[in-house]
Amino acid sequence: MSDMASFVPAGADLDELRAEARSCRGCDLFRDATQTVFGKGSSRARVVMVGEQPGDVEDRRGEPFVGPAGVLLRRAVTDVGLKPKDLYITNAVKHFKFRQAATGKRRIHQTPDRVEIVACRPWLLAEFAQLAPNFVVALGATAGQALLGPSFRVTKSRGVLMPWPESAYHPEDYAQPGGAAQVMATLHPSAILRADDRDAAYAGFVKDLKVVADALG
Ligand code: URA
Ligand code: SF4
Repeated sequence: MSDMASFVPAGADLDELRAEARSCRGCDLFRDATQTVFGKGSSRARVVMVGEQPGDVEDRRGEPFVGPAGVLLRRAVTDVGLKPKDLYITNAVKHFKFRQAATGKRRIHQTPDRVEIVACRPWLLAEFAQLAPNFVVALGATAGQALLGPSFRVTKSRGVLMPWPESAYHPEDYAQPGGAAQVMATLHPSAILRADDRDAAYAGFVKDLKVVADALG
């Protein structure tokens, strides 16, 4: 475990973790961001979805996936019949990383780097420890790599529900939910918003999420 784990209280429940995470200084991202954006959802969730990091809207509102990508994600979740009681949504990194546009007030998203992903991982592990989910969905490359290691490629494995890869078990390298969790990677909802053929991209996203919804029964 990294030193950053010292910010994460052992055995805390999700509300306690959320409260503690407000004062996390585990990496530099807290400096410029508005607030920590912790995961949200049912404490009995069997499915945990992991995004990259909060975006501009999430940073202001303090909740994950409430901006445009979140609207798309929630529509897809509803389309495949996943229920709020089964779902908890979080991010690999819990502060917004951005740079200021050269002119104007716009804040431009920056992909978190390995140091930030690793620094923030104790929070994700603590969420997994509390929830013990049956299914973990990695939304996009950053989440995929936070969960499955730096060499993981979403494009190669998307839409396939896999047992947690024990052959690749390296506690230092991945965040593991432990137990009998299965993992599936898919696109990040922001990638769908950017796609040339949005309808086709959305249909593919729904098809992937349906795999988890069907497995959940
Ligand atoms: N993108 C993410 O990965 N997470 C959010 O919470 C919002 C946008
Ligand atoms: Fe802590 Fe994660 Fe925020 Fe870094 S991004 S300060 S590790 S909560």
